[in-house]
Amino acid sequence: MEQAVSKEEIRQLVLEARREGKRVALVPTMGALHEGHLSLVRAAQARADLVVVSIFVNPTQFGPSEDFEAYPRDLARDLALLSAEGVDAAFTPGTEAMYAPDAQVTVDPGPLGDVWEGASRPGHFRGVCTIVAKLFALVAPDLAFFGEKDYQQLVIVKRMVADLDFPVKVVGCPIVREYDGLAMSSRNAYLSAEERAAATVLYRALREAETLVCGGETSVEYVEQAMRDTVEAEPLASLDYAALIDPHTLVRAAGAGGARAIIAARVGATRLIDNMAMPSA
Ligand code: PAJ
Repeated sequence: MEQAVSKEEIRQLVLEARREGKRVALVPTMGALHEGHLSLVRAAQARADLVVVSIFVNPTQFGPSEDFEAYPRDLARDLALLSAEGVDAAFTPGTEAMYAPDAQVTVDPGPLGDVWEGASRPGHFRGVCTIVAKLFALVAPDLAFFGEKDYQQLVIVKRMVADLDFPVKVVGCPIVREYDGLAMSSRNAYLSAEERAAATVLYRALREAETLVCGGETSVEYVEQAMRDTVEAEPLASLDYAALIDPHTLVRAAGAGGARAIIAARVGATRLIDNMAMPSA
């Protein structure tokens, strides 16, 4: 596996592949890789000739009181995992390499960036759009792979690509879960054993919603209340939001059928998110 650290190195590497007529895929990550990330890598390998995985803990998408410093980092382990998967190239720039000290221009995600995760984490999606736009400019991929785990991020990145005419196809991939339903996340490493057991409450609430909608429930309010009740019964969890939303516009759904159920909660000090497609009416 090749490793590019500078912008010049990654540009050169992709340029050579392109000259050979290769189809290029990008999998952007912040490292601390797990099976969720690797599922994106495998999806990319199935559809491209050169797979680039970026590993960059992007400071601009963390709020001032968030976990940028504490975010898990283990580059040697990540590179070994990617190499074992047969990834062609890892792009692992330092912060200074990615952001000039006098950088000023950012990408505004628009109103989709102000709701749900954006309401709880002001500026988060501006940081995400800016780094993803920069990675698209540097790697110029034909395809880019994102997980449904970060559902709002996936919708916003698709919107950005459409609105700013990036010549890349964004591919969304399903959520990979632990044996007990907990969505895989680099942040799960923060959980104590007790919190880890409690953390399944997000999945349990989503399954409760799914069961209700499967059984014919159409009321958005009723299903949302059931999700809230599930989380409130878990003493270690505190709910941020539980909602049924339109899967494209992210506004509150008109009916429960076909909606996307989204949930965010703190378990101990760790903020977790999850989501699930509701069966259609
Ligand atoms: P990160 O949290 O490292 O996630 C990288 C990619 O892996 C994202 O597309 C995310 O949705 C996907 N992913 C994470 N957990 C997953 C799971 N359990 N199942 C399926 N996919 C999963 O998301 C980011 O990094 C950053 O915001 C980034 C896009 C890299 C920009 O900095």
